[in-house]
Amino acid sequence: MSTSLADPPAAASQRPATAIEGIPPGPTPPVALQTLAMRTRQRPYLERARRRYGSMFSIKVVGLGTTVIISDPALIKQAFRADPTVLHAGTGSPIRTVLGENSLLSIDEDQHMQQRKLLLPPFKGQRMKSYESLIAEIAAEEIDRWPQGVEFETTRSMQRITLRAILRAVFGAEGAQLHELEELLPPWTVLGTRLVLTPWLQHDLGRLSPWNKFQRMRARIDEILAQMIAAAKADPHLEDRADVLALMVQARHEDGSPMSNPEICDQLVTMLVAGHETTANTLSWAVERLRRHPEVLARLAQEADEGGKALREASIREVQRMRPVIAFAGRVVRKQPYEIGGYRLPVGTRMLLAACLTHFDPNLFPHPDRFDPDRFLDTMPDTYSWIPFGGGIRRCIGATFAHMEMDVVLRVMLERVELLPTEEPDEPWAFRGIVWAAGRNGRAAVAPRQGAREPALASAAQG
Ligand code: HEM
Repeated sequence: MSTSLADPPAAASQRPATAIEGIPPGPTPPVALQTLAMRTRQRPYLERARRRYGSMFSIKVVGLGTTVIISDPALIKQAFRADPTVLHAGTGSPIRTVLGENSLLSIDEDQHMQQRKLLLPPFKGQRMKSYESLIAEIAAEEIDRWPQGVEFETTRSMQRITLRAILRAVFGAEGAQLHELEELLPPWTVLGTRLVLTPWLQHDLGRLSPWNKFQRMRARIDEILAQMIAAAKADPHLEDRADVLALMVQARHEDGSPMSNPEICDQLVTMLVAGHETTANTLSWAVERLRRHPEVLARLAQEADEGGKALREASIREVQRMRPVIAFAGRVVRKQPYEIGGYRLPVGTRMLLAACLTHFDPNLFPHPDRFDPDRFLDTMPDTYSWIPFGGGIRRCIGATFAHMEMDVVLRVMLERVELLPTEEPDEPWAFRGIVWAAGRNGRAAVAPRQGAREPALASAAQG
């Protein structure tokens, strides 16, 4: 792997011989200023540090402590493939208290592998077809309500689509339960995200305290999920169902025991939190990017009319490269010091594997600031330099689902409306607690499609 143009002479993966005990150097401003920079101008701040210190350096952030940022794909590969007893992703995660102790995002080692094995089958490629027409239906219903001829923000609309898609495809929710969960989950997720950022508020100080409110909402969510689990267990057609809840109810641990209700609830809620904002905000970024690239947009509309999808898939990957909504995959050193990039990092060190830097390395992606879906046309991105879904045994289990969902939503959008180009400046990046969102919420303007073929809701119409 070649050294970045912007790097100092030796990339971290090429540093020589004996490892230095401790943490690599990095910017020295006070922790408060570094925290502010990470929440407001993260990428330029980190880019500057990378130019000065190379592809492995440290920063200090409130809530995370001293943290090592890594953007060299060779080191990212090493960390993704590391022994999971030495590098943890769950137990050190700030999200653990909010998602529950069974959550796949909160656990490590054997417990993680066991749960992951149970959860993976519903997310395998061949299952995706069964979700496509449902998602197309949800997307069409929402997009048909978009106002014509005036600018509007797409983020809320995309959130409605992705929330409903998860609730129906993953949870198998319908009717009153679907509606109540649709009401409860967005405010619960917003509150949870705030609480992740403010760990000192994670204490029950009475009914008016945010933590108490958060726990009460969670109790109601769990009640509804328990009803759904009971209904699934009693469903004589359980084996024919494709939703993930039904599959979890039937899953068995290695010793033959079923998943407990708290296990199922924590995993369902995890998927919701991990899967809905991320996908919605990537879709809003797609709208933002495409409106500023009318030539790509025109090719995509033509491709959709012809029933193709290669450029659309490449465009999704390019949006995820240029606007990764999750900036980092996190790992924490446990048990023994961990040697990487010429340093022996002490136990407790947090490492952030930085999609937000790697994706902009000109040696890996020529002209990285150019939106150029052709770079991924009929070419799969590299596993360790294109990392919007993280990697290794912690790689996002919803990646195939999310890709399929974004593909279907964009296809339905292209078929049903004409997205109007704009010459407005790029929307800024805005930090929303967990995700980096389009700062003006992915503003769109649409007109009715002229001369398009009849929109094909069913996936069967696709190539
Ligand atoms: C564009 C959409 C999405 C993005 C960008 C995204 C990104 C990520 C990232 C960066 C990780 C951490 C990986 C690591 O540490 O190496 C992750 C983990 C995870 N994601 Fe996603 N995700 C998306 C959609 C989804 C969806 C739709 C679901 C489920 C329905 C989902 C469920 C999960 C779960 C359960 C994990 C934990 C995996 C583990 O620890 O083994 N995600 N995701």
